[in-house]
Amino acid sequence: MKTATTSLIGAAFVALAVLAVGAARAALDLRHTITGEVLNLDEALPDGRDTPGVKSFLETGRNPYTENPEILAKAEPLFLSACSGCHGHYGEGKIGPGLADNYWTYPKNATDQGLFETMFGGANGQMGPQVFNLTLDEMLVVMAWVRHLYNGPIEDAVWLTDEQKKTFKPYKPPH
Ligand code: HEC
Repeated sequence: MKTATTSLIGAAFVALAVLAVGAARAALDLRHTITGEVLNLDEALPDGRDTPGVKSFLETGRNPYTENPEILAKAEPLFLSACSGCHGHYGEGKIGPGLADNYWTYPKNATDQGLFETMFGGANGQMGPQVFNLTLDEMLVVMAWVRHLYNGPIEDAVWLTDEQKKTFKPYKPPH
């Protein structure tokens, strides 16, 4: 009897611990862009899950890599291999829509959380879930490049801080 009680208490602790981990992760309510279903972070690739950048994003919903020069240096090649085939070299649009202007099919993509959700889980048709191609950290890196390519009105760049808005220059292709 005593053993049964002990193991019950043990089980309760385990359940609480699992709940606590779940709660920490669910600080953001991440949803699939089309179905609205909760996105399962456990599907993420094993690497790049717990970087300071990912932790910060999951706590705040903001991408800490935006306009970070060190990140931008490695972001372009990732965008070119994972996205540009469909969205164009400069996000100008190809078989997928443009990503560099202020028009969004899904308005939530103007927020970092929305853009992350669309990348993680995909959208319609050819826009497949990127969770199987990119680590969570790489998704944030690519997001920083998508934001860097922006050439629309600065007031619509809600992903920039007020400080960043002062210095941000609309992207111009280098030629
Ligand atoms: C195989 C082609 C393909 C690839 C690769 C691809 N996309 Fe897409 N993407 C699309 C298509 C097609 C749509 C339109 C889907 C829809 O409207 O639901 C789309 C839609 C989107 C949207 C929504 C845009 C809006 O106006 O709301 C975003 C954001 C996006 N893609 C980002 C990315 C990023 C970032 C990558 C690289 C990690 C990527 N996509 C890779 C084809 C692709």
